Amino acid sequence: MAEAIPLRSLTTLRIGGTPVVYHAPRTQGELQEALAECRRVGLPWRALGGGSNLLVDEGALPFAVIHVHGPGLAGVRRLDQRRIRVGAGTPTARLLAWCRAEGLGGLEFMAGLPGTVGGAVSCNAGAWKEAVCDHVRRLHLLTAEGRPVWRARERLRCAYRHTELQGAIVMEVELGLEPRQPRLIARRMRECLEARGQRHPRRRPSAGCIFRNPPGHSAGRLLDLCGLKGARVGAAEVSGRHANFILNSGGAVAGDVLALIRQMQEAVRRRFGIELQLEVRRWRAGTRAA
Ligand code: EPU
Repeated sequence: MAEAIPLRSLTTLRIGGTPVVYHAPRTQGELQEALAECRRVGLPWRALGGGSNLLVDEGALPFAVIHVHGPGLAGVRRLDQRRIRVGAGTPTARLLAWCRAEGLGGLEFMAGLPGTVGGAVSCNAGAWKEAVCDHVRRLHLLTAEGRPVWRARERLRCAYRHTELQGAIVMEVELGLEPRQPRLIARRMRECLEARGQRHPRRRPSAGCIFRNPPGHSAGRLLDLCGLKGARVGAAEVSGRHANFILNSGGAVAGDVLALIRQMQEAVRRRFGIELQLEVRRWRAGTRAA
């Protein structure tokens, strides 16, 4: 167990209070011990990767955080011509650099995605109509009961920004990729990065897209048509570049973001009759459900 630290220092939105317990396991064994300890004392837990796609409440948080990022939980290994095994704590950028050097293609669309591989898989992160679970073969999970198991992709019910993990923590990911020339991989990665750079806000902290795209629509476009770019509550502000991003313009608290989220939902409901659903995950101070 490490000293508890406020999650605002570990989330890309730079918001969030302090969990009762903070575990920073360095190995799979320590990860299993951390979960066993939570179970022993009856404390709910949350697994943290790179801290993107998260909106965390302020104050004292009634759960443990298990931070899956230690060196023993990161790393990439080639299994054969097309398969690799990746530690959940590996930053996505490091995985992509490795794939480029090794001449293994398929994940180029992830260029510019923040966070860790475990986080990307558990949210089925995606861009440009591709998603990470398209390439997953199986996952090495630590189940909510503390049992390590391998689970095949077919059992994960992967869908748009969704993977069915049933409370399990991702420890390792096995991916199937395609041999491809490094220069072609580099070119595609550059294109994805450029496209991202043109569309998304760059400098100030955000959690990524706030809402899921409703079927057949872009949430960003709907919000833009409602004139919400630049709307503010406290220090939370809708990006002027892309209306599905909320920025922390310095010292925003979760309440600011939530009030802005409600305004955005209300505007889209009134104008289009569409109910926007959150894409970011919330970690609330007031609930104990895992
Ligand atoms: N648009 C506007 N105004 C805006 C934002 C977008 O008119 O403020 C228009 C764009 O001009 C474009 C359309 O809406 O015609 C779609 O925009 P974009 O290409 O930016 O894609 P998106 O649907 O808003 C999705 C994902 C992003 C992902 C991009 C690129 C969701 C919720 N968002 O955004 O993912 O990076 O496609 O593939 O699925 C994320 O998951 O956090 C995320 C940012």
